[in-house]
Amino acid sequence: MSELPARPGAHGLGLDQPAVSAVLSRLYAAARAGDPSAMARAHAEAAELPAPPTVAETSALCAAASLPVHPHTGRFLYTLVRTLRPRTVVEFGTSFGTSAVQLAAALRDNGAGHLTGTELEAGKVHQARANLAEAGLAEWATVLAGDARQTLATMARPVDLVLLDGWKELYLPVLEVLEPMLRPGSVIVSDNLPMLPDGFLTRIRDLGRGYSSVELPLGDGIELTTWTGEEW
Ligand SMILES: C[S@@+](CC[C@H](N)C(=O)[O-])C[C@H]1O[C@@H](n2cnc3c(N)ncnc32)[C@H](O)[C@@H]1O
Repeated sequence: MSELPARPGAHGLGLDQPAVSAVLSRLYAAARAGDPSAMARAHAEAAELPAPPTVAETSALCAAASLPVHPHTGRFLYTLVRTLRPRTVVEFGTSFGTSAVQLAAALRDNGAGHLTGTELEAGKVHQARANLAEAGLAEWATVLAGDARQTLATMARPVDLVLLDGWKELYLPVLEVLEPMLRPGSVIVSDNLPMLPDGFLTRIRDLGRGYSSVELPLGDGIELTTWTGEEW
C-alpha cells in the first residue's frame, strides 16, 4: 500500500495539515512495514481453534494488524465529508484510527460534526484515541469500545454518514442496527467490496428498501450507497 504524496498547492491544509499528515504517514508506514504474514498466521491460528472463531476471537487474532483503508479511499472519505457536511458520522471498525483521522480532519475543517468510531479490540481503542489526539482531532471523534452491534445501538441522533470497515460478515447486522437512525439522504461507504457477502449487497442495492447504490473502483473497491428514505 503506497501512501499518497502531498499534493502540489496543498499548502499544508486538509489531510496535508502537518499534525494530521504526520500521524497518517506514521500509520501507513507502520502498516507497510507490518509483518506480511500476520494475517496468514491469524488464519492459521483460527484454523487450530475447536470451532470457527467468534468475532471477538478474530479481533484478538488481528490485534496487531492495522488493515487501514487505502489512501485513495481515505482522500475520498475526506472529500465526501467536506462535500456533504454531515453532522453525525459513524464508523464500524476503527482499528488504529487511520480512517477516523481522515474523517475527523474533514469534520474539523468543516467546523461542525462528530465522528463516532467503534472498535472491539481494547488495545486498538487506546491507540486510536491516542492517534486522534496526536493529530489534534480528539474533540471531533469518540471511539466506543466494544462490539459495534451493541455500542451503536445506544446512538440517539440521526446518522448522516457511515463507513463500514469491520469484519465483513457483520456489515449487515451493523447496518440493521443503524437503519432506524439513518437520515433520508444519508450516505454509506462500504469498504472491501470484493469481500462483501451477497446478503449485505442485496440489501444495500435494494431500491425497494430505499437504497440507491453504486460500486466504485477505489482502493480495494468500495460501494457508495444512499438511503433515500423512500421505501417502495
Ligand atoms: C479493517 S480494520 C479497520 C481499519 C480502519 N477503518 C482504518 O482505516 O484504519 C477492521 C477493524 O474492525 C474491528 N471490528 C471487527 N468487528 C467488530 C465489532 N463487532 N465491533 C467493533 N469493532 C469490530 C476489528 O477489531 C478491526 O480492528
